[in-house]
Amino acid sequence: MTLSRRHFVQTVGIGAGAALTSQIWGRGRENAIWSAIEPDLQAVERGVICIASNENPVGPGQRVLDSLRTLLEGGKKPGRYSGQMGDLTDAIAGHFKVKTENVLLSEGSTEVLRAATQVFTAKTKPLVGTIPTYEECAGYAELIGNKVVGVKLNSEFKIDLDMMLNAAKGAGLVFYCNPNNPTATYVGARATRDFLTKLIAASPDTTVLVDEAYFDYVTDPDHETHVPFAIEHPQVIVARTFSKAYGMAGLRQGYAIAHPETIKKLRMWTASGGTGSLNLFGMSAATVAIQQDASFTTNERNRNKQVRDFVTKWFKDRGMKPTDGQANFMFVDIGTPAKEFREACRAKGVLVARDFPPFEKTHARITLGTMAEMQKAVQVFGEVLGKKTSTAAA
Ligand SMILES: Cc1ncc(COP(=O)(O)O)c(C=O)c1O
Repeated sequence: MTLSRRHFVQTVGIGAGAALTSQIWGRGRENAIWSAIEPDLQAVERGVICIASNENPVGPGQRVLDSLRTLLEGGKKPGRYSGQMGDLTDAIAGHFKVKTENVLLSEGSTEVLRAATQVFTAKTKPLVGTIPTYEECAGYAELIGNKVVGVKLNSEFKIDLDMMLNAAKGAGLVFYCNPNNPTATYVGARATRDFLTKLIAASPDTTVLVDEAYFDYVTDPDHETHVPFAIEHPQVIVARTFSKAYGMAGLRQGYAIAHPETIKKLRMWTASGGTGSLNLFGMSAATVAIQQDASFTTNERNRNKQVRDFVTKWFKDRGMKPTDGQANFMFVDIGTPAKEFREACRAKGVLVARDFPPFEKTHARITLGTMAEMQKAVQVFGEVLGKKTSTAAA
């Protein structure tokens, strides 16, 4: 996978001297990035604490594991093409109380991000997103030769809604990642709805992809899924995944929820619509996962919050500032280049994430592992950042 960028990227709303290129966010998905920049590294090496790819460290629930075991032990089913798409579509539609025409299955939400970029951007209709954000849409837009416009985050590292609104007028697709990866920040439900309403009025031909990959981790009281809004407005798509709170990243299941007309446009660009070739194990697992009672995601959110509070306090006590994180990862001003921090941590058996320009000289993204993993990880952080932490503590 090449990380180079061939196309010009226009950057708006960014202060003098901050002419950023799409290299900043035009890269691949989380785990693929490991193989691009660290070809000799298996994502999870034995004995290594892998807090680099925003996965749920606990994995899927027991019911999901049981269902996979049953499939494996149950004889011939995996030898047949699967009829499971209907079951999973029904289960998702039931969960959100929408119609099946509102649901599109995909191989991870990556496929939805790519399909939306394919369908809604064009040579004259750019992709608009923040800098930094999750890089899939920008990378794909550039791959197909379409322009990418980056919008600077505000001083709290959140989406700057006024700036985004201005940049989005006339765009083909707006990528609205909330919580945003890598900054973990969240824009509240009311402000997001207001933004979407204003954008539809100002630029009715622009589509917005609201990426809710980390939604289940949000603890801000002003949070709400934008699925109901998307159902009502053909210009809005919500992308969801089983890779994060459901702990199923390796099973590659995601979906879009949108107005039926919008789903129709996306469908042919996904494996489920194009070839009907989604993986039986992933679909079976996802069907069980979404039918688990809500305590599964509630427990995972609570588990993650305890860890997040612990790690946040650890950094704050040492004078380092994390953003107001609402996800299963943190973005921290460690005051030192992320590369040096990463390499030093890796030498001590802890993997943290890649660089995120324009903040790569000061900020690191750290996924939240289990409490036990993070207790070990902060010891390593302490050793690596030692000089800084002892000064701050003095
Ligand atoms: C914001 C965001 N969206 C989408 C994805 C894609 O994940 P998946 O294809 O596993 O659903 C990721 C992966 O880390 C992500 O961070």
